[in-house]
Amino acid sequence: MVEKFKSGLVDEQQVISGVSLPVDEESDILSLRPQRMNEYIGQSEVVETLNIAIEAAQKRQEPMDHVLFHGPPGLGKTTLAHIIANEMKASLTTTSGPALEKGGDLIGLLTHLEEGDILFVDEIHRTPKVVEEFLYPAMEDFAVDFVFDKGIHARSHRYRLNRFTLVGATTRVGLLSSPLRDRFGIFRNLDFYAEPELVEIALRSATLLDVGMDHQAAEELSRRSRGTPRIVNRLLKRVRDYTQVKGDGYINCEMVELALSLEGVDIMGLTRLDRKYLRTVIEFYNGGPVGIEAIAATLQEETDTLVDVVEPFLLKTGFVIRTASGRKTSEAAYKHLGFKAQGKLF
Ligand code: ADE
Repeated sequence: MVEKFKSGLVDEQQVISGVSLPVDEESDILSLRPQRMNEYIGQSEVVETLNIAIEAAQKRQEPMDHVLFHGPPGLGKTTLAHIIANEMKASLTTTSGPALEKGGDLIGLLTHLEEGDILFVDEIHRTPKVVEEFLYPAMEDFAVDFVFDKGIHARSHRYRLNRFTLVGATTRVGLLSSPLRDRFGIFRNLDFYAEPELVEIALRSATLLDVGMDHQAAEELSRRSRGTPRIVNRLLKRVRDYTQVKGDGYINCEMVELALSLEGVDIMGLTRLDRKYLRTVIEFYNGGPVGIEAIAATLQEETDTLVDVVEPFLLKTGFVIRTASGRKTSEAAYKHLGFKAQGKLF
């Protein structure tokens, strides 16, 4: 999938692919996303690094250095790529590692980039090796090398590209090869957001959605959003629906509690799948240690979904501990789910 966004703000966006958008790219979520750096809440060190890099690049009239964002889903990697394009007044072309099946897929994109354009590659760790090799000279020398013929007749031709900025995003930085990792000048981790930041995001989104919400309700919503802006925004919409049907349209704390209980989101923000994961480790594997493949098989879920989506927050809250021999659940997880403490020390 490839999308091209014209420079400037999202309402000018031009999608050139007919393929449907992944959930986080849906236009209603896009509209809640900040479009400029000064609207972005949280990740203050990342924002400062980017502001400096953007200003310096503009002063030198050069494209910005290549940027890699890594961290769990929903924390702002795609949003920041859009913001960089907006700030640099550049066009943004977006694709993803798994969509780039052959070298030609990437070359097609690279040769269409104009000077200063941004190429966003989501899930860059899933880029096939053959494609990745075209990225090296593209990133380093703004060139692609075509090889004609084979064996003793092999000839190479270097095609010059316009200078561009690659923005890569990954949930699994450990799976990136070191030659690729080393070619990014800016390499930043996005961490879970603190509650006050999520409150600010929730209130901003409520204003954009034109729905009333008190501060306490925003706090409750934020407590249940796993440190993740995308989840704040998604849950806010569920609470808005609930309030418009069951209440008077104004979101208070009680409405958040009722709507989110219905969604299966508990007071810590754990979802049904999170709790199923913990219960599986506790009930089937006696609290662990147990390998992720065994947990995935019992839950009938993809291992990647558990590692990328479920585990980061469970690890962050300390409900799950990763050891050399596998995953374990902590005393806090037993307590949260209402199990008797297992009496083991970790
Ligand atoms: N919406 C989603 N993420 C946001 C962020 N970091 N700042 C402001 N609004 C957001």
